[in-house]
Amino acid sequence: MPSKTCNVVVLLSGSGSNLQALIDSCQGQDSTAHIRAVVSNRADAYGLQRAAAAGIDSAVLDHTRYDGREAFDAALMACIDGFAPDLVVLAGFMRILSGDFVRHYQGRLLNIHPSLLPRYKGLHTHRRALEAGDAEHGCSVHFVTEELDGGPLVVQAVVPLVSDDTVESLAQRVHCQEHLIYPLAVRWFAEGRLRLGEQGALLDGQPLPASGHLIRS
Ligand code: GRF
Repeated sequence: MPSKTCNVVVLLSGSGSNLQALIDSCQGQDSTAHIRAVVSNRADAYGLQRAAAAGIDSAVLDHTRYDGREAFDAALMACIDGFAPDLVVLAGFMRILSGDFVRHYQGRLLNIHPSLLPRYKGLHTHRRALEAGDAEHGCSVHFVTEELDGGPLVVQAVVPLVSDDTVESLAQRVHCQEHLIYPLAVRWFAEGRLRLGEQGALLDGQPLPASGHLIRS
């Protein structure tokens, strides 16, 4: 019997290379994840063009037109819910989300972050890893909770630093790993294998380690 489709809404503000990786991975016939819509807070986000090229519905909600975060988030929730999502995926969505928003999508809201969380929450992660002289950097997919970049980890990919790394070279290698681990996490969720339990993320009913599933290249 075919599995039920998992409707995914992707939120972004920019290039959308992670959206593209998700589009590509959802194209296979055996994919249970279906990208229902893309929502951006910026009309000029290149990710909207990627959505159009793939025939995916999109919507733009310009946050500057709303009277504060709560009003914007309420409109955003109404927009997203119009697409009846089973999963909401943050893919470079450059807005801090209110508690109401996060609670509304509790257990069905994923984010990708360009560091090995809990290291380097927030911005400029590649520069911070380089300046700290870290041996390893990477990226993380996590369930979103009210703590910024602090929700239970699902999967992390480790990227070793090399001696002549620059912010750009490191960012590029991390991005490549993002494009592997986000589709993986979305596939797990869509197949009903991944969920958020009381104590953290569960894969196939078993608690994931605090670091999430760890991938070393
Ligand atoms: C990625 O680095 C992701 O980790 C962060 O935002 C960036 C989005 O990149 N949350 P793209 O728009 O998917 O290319």
